[in-house]
Amino acid sequence: MTTVLVTGASGQLGQCIKDIAHQFPALNLLFVDKNTLDITNTNDVLEFFETHTIDWCINCAAYTAVDNAENDHENAYKVNVFGVKNIAQACQKYDVKMIHVSTDFVFDGLKTAPYTELDIPNPINIYGETKLKGENEIQQILEKHFIIRTSWLYSEHGSNFMKTMLRLAEDRDELSVIDDQFGTPTYAGDLAQIIFQIIQTNSKNYGTFHYSNDGAISWFDFSKAIFELSDVEIKLNAIPTTSYPTPAKRPIYSIMDKSKIIVTMGIEIPFWEKSLNRALIKLNK
Ligand SMILES: NC(=O)c1ccc[n+]([C@@H]2O[C@H](COP(=O)([O-])OP(=O)(O)OC[C@H]3O[C@@H](n4cnc5c(N)ncnc54)[C@H](OP(=O)(O)O)[C@@H]3O)[C@@H](O)[C@H]2O)c1
Repeated sequence: MTTVLVTGASGQLGQCIKDIAHQFPALNLLFVDKNTLDITNTNDVLEFFETHTIDWCINCAAYTAVDNAENDHENAYKVNVFGVKNIAQACQKYDVKMIHVSTDFVFDGLKTAPYTELDIPNPINIYGETKLKGENEIQQILEKHFIIRTSWLYSEHGSNFMKTMLRLAEDRDELSVIDDQFGTPTYAGDLAQIIFQIIQTNSKNYGTFHYSNDGAISWFDFSKAIFELSDVEIKLNAIPTTSYPTPAKRPIYSIMDKSKIIVTMGIEIPFWEKSLNRALIKLNK
């Protein structure tokens, strides 16, 4: 039986992986969270790998508070670089294949056409910088790795843009949303499926891949669709980034080219609005 370790399993992606794990009865899944396996603890990570027979490790553990990271560089680095390095070293030592999730925020957003895996990253905030350094650690340590860069992740779990919009709409009748940052939302349930597909097919096409849902929109477009699909009536104002200053700068354009993962893994990518609808149905269940 193939054994798959999922780190950071209490997070949004980890929970989406848990939700569909029953579809893959041939896989033995081990879910660990920060309390059961802190990836920044080198000894604990090595001991876990030594005492369990693991074939694959999906690393969902990350420091994801983009704005907080600006003033908390040390902790963001500890998890996204040092923790990732611990996992990669353990994978290397025990011959485990690693699937790691990274971000569109490794790019500066200055391009005007979708970013490919060959584009040179140039992060403009601390979170993106630490995620890029984490990618680099894996690339240096471990051959058998898949780094999947994704963007604007949301789901029925955890806290994310979709849930924040719906929560804010509960006690407001007007909201202002940025309309000059462009990207693609990604339903974490779709990403979880792709991750399982890589494992099931025992893919050996190691390397870095871009994966988001299909299409390209602004945060304003995304919020409009969230409310329309949820039958929530609210007045939406489109505002520029300059009207909503945040501690961390964000790329104004982070659309990713997904050709590589489509061709290499033979997958179809759902259009963002279709996936949003599925996520909203799950949320309301
Ligand atoms: N969310 C997005 O919009 C987005 C966009 C692009 C890429 N990504 C990437 O996608 C991946 C999954 O994101 P997500 O939305 O699922 O994030 P998430 O919900 O914040 O989950 C991350 C999980 O990692 C845990 N964690 C933090 N430090 C840890 C440690 N030292 N050891 C073990 N676990 C630790 C967190 O626990 P605590 O909550 O208790 O700290 C949390 O449960 C991440 O790599 C992220 O960088 C996310």
